[in-house]
Amino acid sequence: MDGLRVNADRLWDSLMELARIGGTPKGGVCRLTLTETDRQGRDTFIHWARDAGLAVRVDGIGNIFARREGADAAAAPVVIGSHLDSQPSGGKFDGAYGVMAGLEVVRTLNDARVTTRVPLEVAAWTNEEGSRYVPTMMGSGVFSGVYALDYALAQQDSDGISVRTALEAIGYAGDAKPHAVGAYFEAHIEQGPVLEATGTTIGVVQGALGQRWFDVVITGQDSHAGPTPMETRRDALLAASRLVLEVNRIATTSPDYARGTVGSMQVKPNSRNVVPGEARMTVDFRNAKDPTLIAMVDELKRRAAAIATECRVTIDLREVVYFAPSEFAPELVASVRSAAGALGYSHRDIVSGAAHDAVYLSRVAPTAMVFVPCKGGISHNEIESAKPEDVAAGCNVLLQAVLARAGT
Ligand code: GLV
Ligand code: MN
Ligand code: MN
Repeated sequence: MDGLRVNADRLWDSLMELARIGGTPKGGVCRLTLTETDRQGRDTFIHWARDAGLAVRVDGIGNIFARREGADAAAAPVVIGSHLDSQPSGGKFDGAYGVMAGLEVVRTLNDARVTTRVPLEVAAWTNEEGSRYVPTMMGSGVFSGVYALDYALAQQDSDGISVRTALEAIGYAGDAKPHAVGAYFEAHIEQGPVLEATGTTIGVVQGALGQRWFDVVITGQDSHAGPTPMETRRDALLAASRLVLEVNRIATTSPDYARGTVGSMQVKPNSRNVVPGEARMTVDFRNAKDPTLIAMVDELKRRAAAIATECRVTIDLREVVYFAPSEFAPELVASVRSAAGALGYSHRDIVSGAAHDAVYLSRVAPTAMVFVPCKGGISHNEIESAKPEDVAAGCNVLLQAVLARAGT
């Protein structure tokens, strides 16, 4: 099987066709989870999966599993997957690549008439992005037992629409029960600059940064921009601005791949000549070491308390996501590394700054990821771009690592 290679053109064409669903004028994708465009993306994937002879099941949170039988039907499947949802201004590759790469592995095995010992499943996990609905990695989180199904279904978007309602509206509330997974593989663009900057084709992913997400509500008092003296104001936006600087300072001065981002803010009443009485913002903290991640949050809470006093406001920090840094399975990581080496691709070990469904799958099954470079390290952006040859290389590594695990 060492000589087997994926069909690079077919993989690329599938990615480009999928990217038309929710395609944006700047060449990106807006396929927010559980929307009509998400439904179209799912329908297209299922159509292609059935064409490839796969049997499709959908579970209660809308995760899709497309199964190819193996010689040993009772063995726990090797699952290959990622997500089909995107950020509001996302790119063509984040998530879609991992699902299409899984499909291409199966199509390649079909062409070569190879039967694996263990069954294979291509998975598309619901709401990886965590943009329309929090928590992020919702589908893989439910599958892995991190979140109860009812908890996930009850979450609401900013318009008050629940996951349950949205899932039923697009016809993807299924009834498949969680099942054993023998191993999990996910291919993804790096979403950062390391591979491109070092001229490396394959990232052998060791694990992913842990994350803590907060919803922050700052409450002061609306008042007139003219008569209200500076020293008596209760300016929620001023406090928010100072907190943004603290998030940045904490991440910039902490070790272990620390990251800190405020990506969303709403100000009320949002009027030019009113001192803002309310500000809502998000905080996204990441780190490779759990104790450092905890210390970052402790420091944020201390600074928030001080800012609240100084600005005469209240600051409520509500934690909405917390998962510790993850380490992938050494034996599977080694198989990705040796597949890359055997195929003659340059490769290096790398830590994922982004979250992936692999983070939660790694809690229930041996897990590994394959990264390929993306242009300028830019992702979560419509201009996200990757080279066809790198996309194919990552899929060839995936194919060989999957075969090594699944057996023939
Ligand atoms: C998922 O895209 C993340 O926020 O890392
Ligand atoms: Mn992704
Ligand atoms: Mn993403």
